[in-house]
Amino acid sequence: MTALPTWPYPRWIAHRGAGKLAPENTLAAFRLGAQYGYRMFECDAKLSADGLPFLLHDSTLERTTNGSGMAGEQDYAQLAQYDAGSWLGRAWAGEPLPTLENVARFCLANHLHLNIEIKPTPGQEEETGRVVAEHAERFWRDAACAPLLSSFRPESLAQARDAAPKLPRALLLDSLREGCFDQAQELGCVALICRYTLWDAALVAQAHAQGLRALSYTVNDTTAADALLALGTDGIITDRVDLFSPAA
Ligand code: G3P
Ligand code: MG
Repeated sequence: MTALPTWPYPRWIAHRGAGKLAPENTLAAFRLGAQYGYRMFECDAKLSADGLPFLLHDSTLERTTNGSGMAGEQDYAQLAQYDAGSWLGRAWAGEPLPTLENVARFCLANHLHLNIEIKPTPGQEEETGRVVAEHAERFWRDAACAPLLSSFRPESLAQARDAAPKLPRALLLDSLREGCFDQAQELGCVALICRYTLWDAALVAQAHAQGLRALSYTVNDTTAADALLALGTDGIITDRVDLFSPAA
């Protein structure tokens, strides 16, 4: 039995800023999520060709910007020209792709917590883990609470661990693969963030017994959220900032 780590984070986490109510992974989304009372945010970070961490979920630009091609093959000076808001509606036109530094400044100034999902362009898993962790450590150096780094990619988390060992880490799981608990321990993780349907009483007990907090993504209905709360899980990532009160 390993003691559970102290947990400084709120239970409710706004996915990509404000779910689908604002353009994902933009500062406009963070502002909207904060207006709904959310005090913690999840975002997806990857590297530009010139090695700058910035926010974008997909490897390619087409779905959420007016750019095209692989984002990781373009310098940030080019990425900064794209409109990452118009795809969702004219009200969001001109919203840029933020750097991780932009988001850090917003969160620190407003005393908001951040979960940075390391979302590498394929082939850049190790470099992305290292660089995101180095930047996060620098941005949050004087902060009361460090950001939580997470990834589906163990090799990214291993690099993050080696680059910034003090930053807390979480392994993301969309299925329960063989050896995932051992992997989380090797990576020095403080939490598992699972696809929410994976959690049951036995799995929560196993995680907690191993000193791992139990978090879920992406929970958008009250039945699922109630079940996860009843199971004693520790955090819920949601798109529905308009449905769930983060004070609950
Ligand atoms: O970090 C939780 C969740 O965001 C993982 O899935 O595809 O929405 O980044 P995805
Ligand atoms: Mg994500």
